[in-house]
Amino acid sequence: MRKPMIAGNWKMNKTPAETVALVEDLKKIQVRTKAEVVVCPMTVSLFAAATQLKGTDIKLGAQNVHFEDKGAFTGECNIASLKELGVEYVILGHSERRQYFAETDETVNKKVLKVLAEGLKPIVCVGESLQQKQTNITNEVVCMQTKAALCGVSPAKVTDVVIAYEPIWAIGTGMTATATDANRTIAAIRAAIRELFGDAADQVRILYGGSMNDKNATELMSQPEIDGGLIGGASLVAEKFEKVINYH
Ligand code: G3P
Repeated sequence: MRKPMIAGNWKMNKTPAETVALVEDLKKIQVRTKAEVVVCPMTVSLFAAATQLKGTDIKLGAQNVHFEDKGAFTGECNIASLKELGVEYVILGHSERRQYFAETDETVNKKVLKVLAEGLKPIVCVGESLQQKQTNITNEVVCMQTKAALCGVSPAKVTDVVIAYEPIWAIGTGMTATATDANRTIAAIRAAIRELFGDAADQVRILYGGSMNDKNATELMSQPEIDGGLIGGASLVAEKFEKVINYH
């Protein structure tokens, strides 16, 4: 009942020209699963991607947005610009932004509310550090992050939210959470959403991210709670991303 999603987070890779080339390759892919395919290029490459994606089923996502409408925020990007380009999804609270750019639960929440109010859909990243995993507080950490991000969201809008469970120790390391561990943590996240929003939780898509690739996508996607993937490295190579998209 939840539409699977395979989203590529291209991070700070792919110039506009490289984006055009990769999108051209992705357009040739025959999608044999029910997955909604999303690509999230750098802000400066969004226009090139949007132009290239016109008329296709591939959706466009951004990697961040500011919560203010406009003004003196040097280096930031506002939501009106994303809407003008046809962006549908916005990744928020990625651990890299939390770690390197002082993103907090509070700013993530402000951005979630802004994105939803403007009719776009946030992909909210949550995940534990290695130390938190080793001290067995994974569920507490990810559930707290999830609840903080969803604070003030209306029940009618929560089903527009996508959560991405990304264990920090698995990002870019080649170390993936086991499918059963990822499934269990995602079930805990869903239970936290249920505490706030009741059965609407069953309609919220929760993705896995962290070294998900062409080799492990089938197993991860076979888990009942895992509704898709947020893919970094493997989404930068069309052949690999194709195998993730066609995960069975
Ligand atoms: O947002 C995707 C991500 O952080 C995972 O990256 O390279 O481990 O697939 P990667």
